[in-house]
Amino acid sequence: MSQPAIHEYDAIIIGGGLTGLRAALQISHAGISCAVLSKVHPLRSHSVAAQGGMNASLGNVPGPGGASDSWELHAYDTVKGSDYLADQDAVVSMCREAAATVFELEHMGTVWSRLDDGKIAQRPFGGAGFPRTCYATDRTGHNMLHTLYEQVTNAKIPVYEEFFVTSLITVSGRCTGCTALEIMTGTVHGFPAKVILMATGGFGRIFSRSTNALINTGDGQTLAIHAGAPLKDMEFVQFHPTTLVGTSILISEAARGEGGILLNTSGEQFMARYAPRSLDLAPRDVVARAIEQEIAAGRGFEGGCVHLDIRHLGADRIRERLPGIRQLAMDFAGIDPITESIPVQPGQHYSMGGIDVGIDGKSGLPGLYAAGECACVSVHGANRLGGNSLLETVVFGRLVADAIIRDIGSIPPPAEVLAEAAVQEMNLKIIGILGRTGGVSLFPVLETLKETMSAHFGIFREGTSMEQGLVRIRELRSQFGNVSLSDKETLANLTLIRYLELEYMFTVAEAVALGALDRKESRGSHTRTDYPDRDDNNFLHHSIARMENEQITILHVPVTLGMFDPQERVY
Ligand code: FUM
Repeated sequence: MSQPAIHEYDAIIIGGGLTGLRAALQISHAGISCAVLSKVHPLRSHSVAAQGGMNASLGNVPGPGGASDSWELHAYDTVKGSDYLADQDAVVSMCREAAATVFELEHMGTVWSRLDDGKIAQRPFGGAGFPRTCYATDRTGHNMLHTLYEQVTNAKIPVYEEFFVTSLITVSGRCTGCTALEIMTGTVHGFPAKVILMATGGFGRIFSRSTNALINTGDGQTLAIHAGAPLKDMEFVQFHPTTLVGTSILISEAARGEGGILLNTSGEQFMARYAPRSLDLAPRDVVARAIEQEIAAGRGFEGGCVHLDIRHLGADRIRERLPGIRQLAMDFAGIDPITESIPVQPGQHYSMGGIDVGIDGKSGLPGLYAAGECACVSVHGANRLGGNSLLETVVFGRLVADAIIRDIGSIPPPAEVLAEAAVQEMNLKIIGILGRTGGVSLFPVLETLKETMSAHFGIFREGTSMEQGLVRIRELRSQFGNVSLSDKETLANLTLIRYLELEYMFTVAEAVALGALDRKESRGSHTRTDYPDRDDNNFLHHSIARMENEQITILHVPVTLGMFDPQERVY
């Protein structure tokens, strides 16, 4: 057998999106050897799809009554939007850093949209008391990702693209590297490292209707929990109110930020009944539930949707501020939003839960750090505000990199021999998977898992239905044990990648289900029809999912409170 391909670095960053690239830059500038592994080309990371913008209290556009914005007000909106489940120390760190982060990106090359006076433009977003969202038309993530990728290229940071991470290497309770499958060649590589930074994004693809890219399958979260790093608040899954009907393509909240309104079949701006003060710009959990209720009450349009009307903004403003969603509506629904309203329905959008980490990104497993959507710091609590995700990626990408830079000198070098053994083990696993014959085929199992998650763990949840959903997940997982693949190739075997992803998806699906069953209250995105009220006496805590002997158990840890007291929700 040929020698395993081993590549040693001080730090390996798994994920080539905004978080991973921002962290890589910082670590590399500190003179620490590092590399980025990404299962797609970095410019195809899901960050590229972020549309509406990034929040920062620049105060370039005055708020109500001419009031001016501040990081404290940004923190207040974030904590309130989180239904008081966010850790307030983490929220403060993020909101304080926000303005400097916008300028830092600008200096790196991000082309922000501008006001007439030349200042960076800001627009209103849901749950925000001020026009706080900085944007690059409605292609903000695209703009930011290209900026950071250029910087990473300029810094000559090695990027192993189309490398699918297959295992974390641990020894004596420490993470010391990972293995990854090079998709094009089928070769398993070993990456011994002093630290691993997980930046793999969310897990939206466990649901059948999701705005997420196909790659968002919870790889990092699953690898972490199996290696001994707990997950946090996995039950909190965000459903974006407006996705293009039948396609799940995101129609940015920016459309409502610019003045778009949601209409039912009676032509009524129905949000006035659900959120009389914030209307269409209430937080996402509120708007998504309202749309579902309108549809359930028979006031939805054919196909199970409501209409998003932006026609009154006028052709010029739509062309200038919302060119991306106009193009998407034309290409995928044959509708020009300048003259017709857009049929929209809620779809899974974001995972508030993830690998349990502190502000420094340290997980429960020494040597393993995490940041961005795959992590839970927690800055979003039970419901994330639009525009806070792009902010989180770059702020925590940098903060976690700073922690790694501080820690790395005291961490011993990893043993290459362990990486070699891990590569051999992974090769045997893959040979076993490809060698299986008979049994069931992969894709029906995958599709049924997604349907199960959407049916039992969607916007509205109920105990008996969730119990049934959990049983179904476990049945499907045992069927998965009998899956055999029709494609037996080693080169570019994407069916094998889908198989390995599905293995990851089962773990996150079960963690979501167990967390949702455990939380007998309604808070943020987690709405239980059998427990309709928020219950601070019993549930103002984070849920921690741990794995022992392949079983997940849920524990509770307190929320870090601070400047803002949990209080009544009034939108
Ligand atoms: O609607 C949007 O543009 C999404 C923004 C976000 O999720 O932060």
